[in-house]
Amino acid sequence: MANFKISVINGDGIGPEVGVEGLKVLHALGAKCGHTFSTTHYLAGGAAIDATGVPLPDDTIKGVKDSHALLFGAIGGPKWENMPHHLKPEAGLLKLRKELDAWANLRPAVVYDELVDASTIKPEVLRGTDIMVLRELTGGIYFGQPRGIEGTGPTRKGFNTEVYSEFEIERIVRMAFQIALGRKKKVCSVDKANVLESSQVWREVAIRVGKEFPQVALSHMYVDNAAMQLIRDPKQFDVIVTGNIFGDILSDEASQLTGSIGMLASASVGGPVGFFEPIHGSAPDIAGQQKANPLAMIGTLSLLLRYGLKLETEAKLIEAAIKRVLADGLRTGDIKQPGCRILGTREMGDAVLERLKAL
Ligand code: IPM
Ligand code: MG
Repeated sequence: MANFKISVINGDGIGPEVGVEGLKVLHALGAKCGHTFSTTHYLAGGAAIDATGVPLPDDTIKGVKDSHALLFGAIGGPKWENMPHHLKPEAGLLKLRKELDAWANLRPAVVYDELVDASTIKPEVLRGTDIMVLRELTGGIYFGQPRGIEGTGPTRKGFNTEVYSEFEIERIVRMAFQIALGRKKKVCSVDKANVLESSQVWREVAIRVGKEFPQVALSHMYVDNAAMQLIRDPKQFDVIVTGNIFGDILSDEASQLTGSIGMLASASVGGPVGFFEPIHGSAPDIAGQQKANPLAMIGTLSLLLRYGLKLETEAKLIEAAIKRVLADGLRTGDIKQPGCRILGTREMGDAVLERLKAL
């Protein structure tokens, strides 16, 4: 029995809708297991811009740092698209990742048997897929200097810098090996070492760290090939470790293996307070319509429990409740299948809740 302080940022678009379902399930889990989750809401993204003029107010940073874990919804939308770069909702998210020193982003892509037909990829290719995409989150081209826009006319240019230091590569690659030890003992390091110096250093460090883990098989793949292999034969992968932008792209691709981006959760760790969010965005096109799939948000809770609060049994309960819902033929629109019942956001949250209580 314990008391945990959870900071909550619902954000924009479908963020608040799926956030409500997440908290409902979290509090029910608390009641079931004898924990108290005290939640405090903070602003970030577009909602923060509207209220305070900046995408990440100081109060938010302070509050989040003072909690045990952060549950995050999604941010952004057309309303704020034309803001200057440093005032866009996304800038708030990136600043928060940096502030929390959340350098490791875990994005598990697990194909549930019940959903093998929901993907656009053949069921026989997908069945049994279970990949952990480990994305470096506070370095690379997202943060590299110099960056900017300069000049005028035809020579006006935009530029960014892809840069990785050895210590940044070493810690994420080491985490990949440690995670692989508890899985199928395979690490695939993804880079573009045939073209980029940053990737050459990445690969050298991966090989060096790999020597500490002789039990784990290390392979290397260029990112273009990895993008192809992920849909050709996803089962060949166990843990994929890669830099910030490659991980951004490959994790969206991996989400489609599972049927929908509405299923995927992520954990950003490494610093003092873990940061947990679905990988989907704010989906402004369906916001406020009760169409969003809350399962990524509810799955995010299980990562928060596992990696943020070290409550493994509780994390497994959430996963079991999600599996039950799928086994009972309940779906949201994004994962609809013939013969299944389509539910709205709230109904899906309720369905998970009922099954959780019954476990
Ligand atoms: C993600 C998102 C973010 C990213 C955006 C919203 C800045 O795509 O978490 O994958 O690029 O990291
Ligand atoms: Mg992304």
